Amino acid sequence: MERNIFEKILGQESLFIDRRAFDHAFEPDKLPHRGGEVDALVRNLVDALNGHIPSNMLLYGVPGSGKTVVTRYVLSQLLDKGEELGEPVFSYEINCRNIDTKYRVVQNIASQLSQRGDAPIPFTGWPTDRVLDTLVKRMDREGGVHIIVLDEIDNLVARAGDGILYNLTNLNTILKSSRCCIIGISNDLHFTQHLGPRVSSRLSQEDLVFHPYGAAQIQDILEDRAKTGLRQNSIGNGVIELCSALAASEHGDARRALDLLRISVQKADQEGHELVSPPHVRLAQSQLEYDQVTPVLRTLPLHQKLVLFSIKLNEENGLRNISTGEVFRTYSDACLKISVEPLTPRRISSLLNELDTLGLIMARNVSKGRGGRSKQVNSAVPRGIDVISTLSDSEALVAQASEEKYALQSRL
Ligand SMILES: Nc1ncnc2c1ncn2[C@@H]1O[C@H](COP(=O)(O)OP(=O)(O)OP(=O)(O)O)[C@@H](O)[C@H]1O
Ligand SMILES: [Mg+2]
Repeated sequence: MERNIFEKILGQESLFIDRRAFDHAFEPDKLPHRGGEVDALVRNLVDALNGHIPSNMLLYGVPGSGKTVVTRYVLSQLLDKGEELGEPVFSYEINCRNIDTKYRVVQNIASQLSQRGDAPIPFTGWPTDRVLDTLVKRMDREGGVHIIVLDEIDNLVARAGDGILYNLTNLNTILKSSRCCIIGISNDLHFTQHLGPRVSSRLSQEDLVFHPYGAAQIQDILEDRAKTGLRQNSIGNGVIELCSALAASEHGDARRALDLLRISVQKADQEGHELVSPPHVRLAQSQLEYDQVTPVLRTLPLHQKLVLFSIKLNEENGLRNISTGEVFRTYSDACLKISVEPLTPRRISSLLNELDTLGLIMARNVSKGRGGRSKQVNSAVPRGIDVISTLSDSEALVAQASEEKYALQSRL
């Protein structure tokens, strides 16, 4: 009998001592470079312990800037202090990416306050006003201060409008023996533009912006996390610096940096290395890019795929800064070869804008003299990804088009 196939991996030494330190939900006990943001939250929320109502707040910042982790940290400390002082404080964290209707938000909070003997509130079916009434009764039954965190609040407003925020920010006028405070979190800085003026002014009584981390700040975060999660002396020179620099050059995303470090360590583990080194980080970076970009490539609609295919074909032939005219020529040629009706040049121009927005190409306007303007494009897909094969694998017509011969403009 062969040995069990799991045995080889099971016994293997790992550079991780605690993998959970790299989970997205991990809550570190220190939050370097977020002291100012922690203070701002504390200064406002302390009112919950003083018998006052904290202001509603809106927290903004790019993805991975620590909004969620900082809020959780401050609230857990607040709840501890409330318990110690005998001041009842309750907090609810609603992720509005999953819970994105008025009914479900209210149902979720009210259900967290249910006591033995309460009728369960169904996930759908009651009139929304009845759920809201139930929430108010249950909050008053508990008394104290209720802090409702609406994380990724922009999703809720996009899906359900601002009516729910109107109701929630109005609760303090209805509650008799309890108080409530709303904290909205968003990575869309222009989020309040989607709100009516009344809701907007009630919700953003205090705004707090989380600025993107710089490379040096991300380094401190990674070093702390490496101490918790990795064996001592397992990180080679330059590794933390490289992870931080790569993440900072995107938009200062600490989550991205932590992912890069985690995958780099996995790569070193897989190779049986005792030390993580910069080439592992490079491998991790291309894996992350691959995992991010290929699903986007695969799910593009047919004509988007054909346009991107045409750009790549020209680039592989040595052309850079490809004119829209040239893209259209190759695209029409490809359509002809696979018997697909081509879209008009105007439509292709808007497809190019969409590809630009998705970050798959870079388009720039160039002046052509006498006031004429035209656009030039280059693909922006990371170099390690084979665009044409990825497109072909997911779309038989592109595969067919890629087997044809094209008369392409040569390098100028
Ligand atoms: N100052 C910090 N110290 C330690 N870890 C941090 C710090 N800031 C962020 N992190 C870590 O980075 C990751 C992303 O942070 P978080 O989830 O709070 O970002 P976010 O601003 O809520 O992003 P998003 O807008 O995408 O929800 C988490 O794993 C978190 O633990
Ligand atoms: Mg978050």
